[in-house]
Amino acid sequence: MGSAVDAVPLSGIVRIREMMFGVERPFRLDQGDMSFAAPQAFKDGIAQALRDDDTHYSLTAGLPRLRELVVAKLRARNQIEARVDQIQIANGGIHGLYLVWQALLEPGDEVILPDPWWPPVQAQVLLARGTPVGCPLREELGWRYDLDELARKITPRTRVIYINSPHNPTGGMLTRADLEAILALAQQHDLTIVSDEAYEDYAYGAPHVSIASLPGAAERTFSVFTFSKSYAVTGLRLGYVVAPRLHDRLQKLAFYTASNVCTAVQRGGIVALEHGRAPLDEFVAEIERRRRLFFGAIADASRGVLAGDCPAGGVFAFLRVARDWHPRARHHAPIGESDSWAFAEYLIKQGRIGCVPGIDFGPHGEGYVRFCVAREPVELEGALASMREIFA
Ligand SMILES: Cc1ncc(COP(=O)(O)O)c(C=O)c1O
Repeated sequence: MGSAVDAVPLSGIVRIREMMFGVERPFRLDQGDMSFAAPQAFKDGIAQALRDDDTHYSLTAGLPRLRELVVAKLRARNQIEARVDQIQIANGGIHGLYLVWQALLEPGDEVILPDPWWPPVQAQVLLARGTPVGCPLREELGWRYDLDELARKITPRTRVIYINSPHNPTGGMLTRADLEAILALAQQHDLTIVSDEAYEDYAYGAPHVSIASLPGAAERTFSVFTFSKSYAVTGLRLGYVVAPRLHDRLQKLAFYTASNVCTAVQRGGIVALEHGRAPLDEFVAEIERRRRLFFGAIADASRGVLAGDCPAGGVFAFLRVARDWHPRARHHAPIGESDSWAFAEYLIKQGRIGCVPGIDFGPHGEGYVRFCVAREPVELEGALASMREIFA
């Protein structure tokens, strides 16, 4: 029975973490994490919960006050109208997505994912006995879909279109017109939309649009949000699902996988939401500075080995690796199963620079490498200086 789990790939990020463990004074641009301290209000909420001895089981759907504040946030920030009973609090976005796939899919149902994809989503669809179907995001379109190509991916077995904007790993953002076209396809073929908005605040080209805010979209959209990136609290594990239906399944799955999300962390989320957006706006502005720093220097630092435009959003640089990078390198990296793995190993071993090979994000990621630019400027500058040396 459990052998189905063996067929699900383990993300290469795990292997990268192991490799980075052996590197002295590393530049951890492989980690998709924000280098900021959590907002004080979030920490105060947790501390107060502990002082109150609020350390017991709580409602599986989530604390009522938190869900009320989430509903208000969705209205103000995302233009999504939701009821409190449509909100399921989850152990971060990854848990929210897991609940959604388990609640939605029958064996063999096809889910259209962007290729490159965030590896856990592909794995979770497989764990729910679904069939992931990749649809390329095109670099020449600013890492957006060719919408005709997306339409051609739809078969009689398609049940869900999953979107992620701003996107991990590319930073591409879908425009309002893209979202309208995706909604029209979903309506035409009676599909469900799963919208992963983990990076909703890191939108630079144009404001982030939640697909569930479009007329007629909310009733077929499961929107998944997380505090992880917006509040720089990846380790605290707090996210939520906005579900138009299947609340009982989501609650049952949440109960059997987590009972409830840590009560004190939920109390932190309450106080953070009550305190407003000031710390988030600071994070967003600082990430913009770091994106400029990194993208402004990378072509020169890598002597043209790495290329790519600064994307519309997100916290990553997903860069094209010059095909002839090998002769430029002083030492040849061991050739692994793919060129992007060989390049990543080279950067890690020769330059102490953490990165993730593009192939880990799906077949269309081959030939690219991902760096997280949400790291401290000193770390970004260290990585750039190290590249200058190894590509000299
Ligand atoms: C695309 C995407 N969705 C969802 C998540 C979920 O994050 P968390 O489980 O920390 O909330 C991440 C985290 O890296 C992500 O990149």
